[in-house]
Amino acid sequence: MAVLRSVIRGVGAHLPKRIVTNDDLAKIVDTSDAWIRERSGIVRRHISDEKELTSELGAAAAKQALIRAGIDPVDIDLIVCATSTPDRTFPATAVRIQSMLGVTKGAAFDLQAVCSGFVFALATADNFLKAGQSKRALVIGAETFSRILDWSDRSTCVLFGDGAGAVVLEAQPQRGGREDRGIISTLIRSDGRFEDLLYVDGGPGSTKTVGHLRMNGREVFRHAVQKISGVIEETLVETGYTPEEIDLFIPHQANKRILDGIAKKLGVAPEKIVMTLDKHGNTSAASIPLALNDAFEAHRVKEGSLILMEAMGGGFTWGAVLARW
Ligand code: UT7
Repeated sequence: MAVLRSVIRGVGAHLPKRIVTNDDLAKIVDTSDAWIRERSGIVRRHISDEKELTSELGAAAAKQALIRAGIDPVDIDLIVCATSTPDRTFPATAVRIQSMLGVTKGAAFDLQAVCSGFVFALATADNFLKAGQSKRALVIGAETFSRILDWSDRSTCVLFGDGAGAVVLEAQPQRGGREDRGIISTLIRSDGRFEDLLYVDGGPGSTKTVGHLRMNGREVFRHAVQKISGVIEETLVETGYTPEEIDLFIPHQANKRILDGIAKKLGVAPEKIVMTLDKHGNTSAASIPLALNDAFEAHRVKEGSLILMEAMGGGFTWGAVLARW
């Protein structure tokens, strides 16, 4: 039976020029390259300069994805931008990106699910496309987390970085079988009981300030392995695929030990994991499309590749997307 699927037509990314190493951070907080590498797997990260906005990073990533897709911006009729670091409280960063790209059709809006933002945005756009409400969507993950970090808190400021990634999705009729290209499954979850384990201590409606990121790292770590493994297992059961059939595992990049733990628990071979944590740090909603772009440029993504993406973040929010390239 023919079905509409959201086929990934192109991927793109953009990183700020400035690179900050672990040794650079050791000059401003009591930390060391050895501690950051051992506990997180991070070696360096990109940090935007004061004038570089989330919208600019997102628009640059989107342009590259459109060029690679061979799709004119005027043919885009949906933009979903996942971000927790918008340029302004409103309007949405997505509408700024829309205007930068010259897109005037359809709708553009932001989606806020912190580090799970890209997975939530993919699930949202996929539903618009499958329902026939949109034809071609830009799904963007863009962040300038450096703006909400407390640069005197060594337990958080060493973990994050800035950047953006984007994909172009197009609704295409497929046969409805295992060989179908496009998004096969999306599962998204939230549980607000855990909001105090990872949050920003400010906001327009409470403190009238932007605030700083606060995290109970050890607790988040414990929940991450459990919740991500759970949602991946659910995805595999629902779709009937086995871990051996996954060609590429593209996880949210938060901690190498979390990724190794999940891969081991689920039986995903280490060579299938795309790891960009060392050079990007945790870029929140941007980390999955940045990693996907990295795999694409390294020719690790081929037509027909079965790709599993997953993330977990503040809220808690978490989810997984299975797609065939
Ligand atoms: O993207 C959203 C999801 N986020 C995550 O998934 C992050 C999950 N959590 C983690 O990745 C890890 O918990 C961290 C990397 C944040 C921390 O690793 P950990 O092994 O859980 O360390 P810890 O928080 O238990 O801290 C161990 C020690 C503490 O010292 P004491 O109390 O044992 O004396 C910290 O004060 O390490 C200390 N510490 C540091 N030392 C040097 C914390 N941060 C640093 C630092 N440099 N930057």
